[in-house]
Amino acid sequence: MKVFDGQPLENALFEHHESKDSALLTFLCYTTMRHYYSLHERLSDISHRPLDRLDIEVKCLLLLGACQLQYSTLPAPLAVAHVVSAARKLGKTSAGGLINAVLRRYDTDIEPRTEEARLELPHWMINRIQSEYASEMEDIFRTSTCRAPMTLRVNRREISTDEYCKLLCEHKIPFQKTVLENAITLEKPTSKSKLPGYEEGWFSVQDLASQLPVSLLEPMPDNRILDACAAPGIKSQQIADTFAMNPVDAYDIKPQCSTWNIATPQDKWKNLTFKQGNLTTTEWWDGKPYERILLDVPCTGSGTISRHPDIKVTRQDADVSQVAELQLELLKNLWTVLAIDGILVYSTCSIFKEENDEVIEQFLADTLDAATESFELPIGRATREGWQTIPSESEHDGFYFARLRKLGRNT
Ligand SMILES: C[S@@+](CC[C@H](N)C(=O)[O-])C[C@H]1O[C@@H](n2cnc3c(N)ncnc32)[C@H](O)[C@@H]1O
Repeated sequence: MKVFDGQPLENALFEHHESKDSALLTFLCYTTMRHYYSLHERLSDISHRPLDRLDIEVKCLLLLGACQLQYSTLPAPLAVAHVVSAARKLGKTSAGGLINAVLRRYDTDIEPRTEEARLELPHWMINRIQSEYASEMEDIFRTSTCRAPMTLRVNRREISTDEYCKLLCEHKIPFQKTVLENAITLEKPTSKSKLPGYEEGWFSVQDLASQLPVSLLEPMPDNRILDACAAPGIKSQQIADTFAMNPVDAYDIKPQCSTWNIATPQDKWKNLTFKQGNLTTTEWWDGKPYERILLDVPCTGSGTISRHPDIKVTRQDADVSQVAELQLELLKNLWTVLAIDGILVYSTCSIFKEENDEVIEQFLADTLDAATESFELPIGRATREGWQTIPSESEHDGFYFARLRKLGRNT
């Protein structure tokens, strides 16, 4: 219900992470979101009342019931009884008959009819993917219903990757090495607090593609680095770990960066400060230009659907243009705090061109002292202005990066 009200599923579930039912709740909510379109279609075909006109509690209970029938091993009568009893607890006793009748008619063998239900994506996303990724669309569609892999970034300031791999072997936690030296993908996602070195901060949970943009900063030893749009602070930690000698300011409009994915106290990163600031203004700025900026803009998250399946249900087509406007505004504003000859790395976790190359092209057209620089990364492919990783099953999310340099007067 919170997701339909606009909250990210991950945040909504976080409140319950210590509950004894947390694993079941997580499974049910993620699976329901992942298969929302086919569950919705099968339910709509057998419900006399349109699903979207039912009370939100009843709609959610029907979806959760259908999810259990379709994807859990719970015997059907028990699954239906649980949902009816949940309706009672929510004060929806009168809906018990409807829920019971619909779920008893639910047929798990019916194949999805429409393209939305078959691909488990809304039309607008299907259209964008088909028009922008003709040769990769089947992979993108398939990946979007998979469970995302769990990748760790070993904090090499604390422990070497080899030593950490040895620890994983000792704890009998199967993993695979990746194309990045200190990134390891676990064969099965596991609770991070159960992994060795959690308390000590020996690793962060961070998608493989999300680990790439920091390397593009290439700071000189005394360069000041700005991590712009920093919350929840995953890349801030990576910057502070990787460039331990550089002062790093991490700003976000949110009051504080959570350190959910790592239990270590904040003072561990001596070179890092988190501050609050609205980066569409310069009110927060101390007037000293930054030599390096990572701008990890807010985006639709369309490259992370397997990790955040709620995105496909909550985002609308119009959000893409809206977010692209904010991205351009942030980029133009942060350009003013970048030193001459400085580098700004622009990053999104979206696969849509409107948030990626098109933002950069508009920016270049409006900004005389900006030029993109080309680069190569171990995964993904070059685009007109930058680099795109394509979401890949059991490997990584879809990210976009562009590297811009501020030209001096004589350049
Ligand atoms: C993609 S997330 C950043 C993820 C982060 N870099 C990380 O690796 O953990 C985008 C962030 O932009 C922030 N944001 C959105 N509008 C902003 C603004 N006007 N000023 C500052 N931050 C903003 C959001 O609060 C959000 O935390």
